[in-house]
Amino acid sequence: MYYFCLINRHIKMNKLVFATNNQHKLREIREILKDKFEVLSLDEIGCHEEIEETADTLEGNALIKARYISEHYGYDCFADDTGLEVFELGNAPGVISARYAGIDKDSKSNMEKLLNELSGSHDRKARFRTAIALLINNEEYLFEGIVNGKITELQSGNEGFGYDPIFMPEGFDLTFAQMSSEDKNAISHRGRAISSMIDFLKNKK
Ligand code: IMP
Repeated sequence: MYYFCLINRHIKMNKLVFATNNQHKLREIREILKDKFEVLSLDEIGCHEEIEETADTLEGNALIKARYISEHYGYDCFADDTGLEVFELGNAPGVISARYAGIDKDSKSNMEKLLNELSGSHDRKARFRTAIALLINNEEYLFEGIVNGKITELQSGNEGFGYDPIFMPEGFDLTFAQMSSEDKNAISHRGRAISSMIDFLKNKK
């Protein structure tokens, strides 16, 4: 006699918290990780408190956030921290990229300050660097992603966020803000850091 079983064909995706509420970043990351993980935001796990980023490195800040979520909410989690590093300015704004023009300032003020600091400078080389801290099964891992490029003289484009209108990646005549999110993700600092994390997760499981 044959017995037939009904197999639940729904593949249950693993939940992974991304320690952010930045909708731009969530959209980017969900696009990259689609089919692999259900990515939850801080809001979605009910975490509404401010996690202070007090470290003086990108890696340190990423670890602070990932450890906080793991300890207080019990989820596997990853957190990123990104800095724009401009060589002529000794790698500033770096870890203070979000608040370069002041704690209450926005991207527009940050870009204006950077363009002023670089005015008249011929060396406009810069890079975005992302550090990711992953906490999974109570183990910690760090990943890095870098995209080299330059700071343009003027702002161009309306896509993306942050410094995108003044960052032109190497090998392109477009700023990040003139690229589609797919094109940016394919070469971006965050895309590269995420790819390293994904490769790691694939090999681990
Ligand atoms: P965060 O700490 O990773 O949120 O990044 C710090 C700051 O770097 C942000 O507030 C943005 O100003 C800038 N930033 C991070 N990622 C990007 C990006 O992909 N494009 C442009 N600016 C970015």
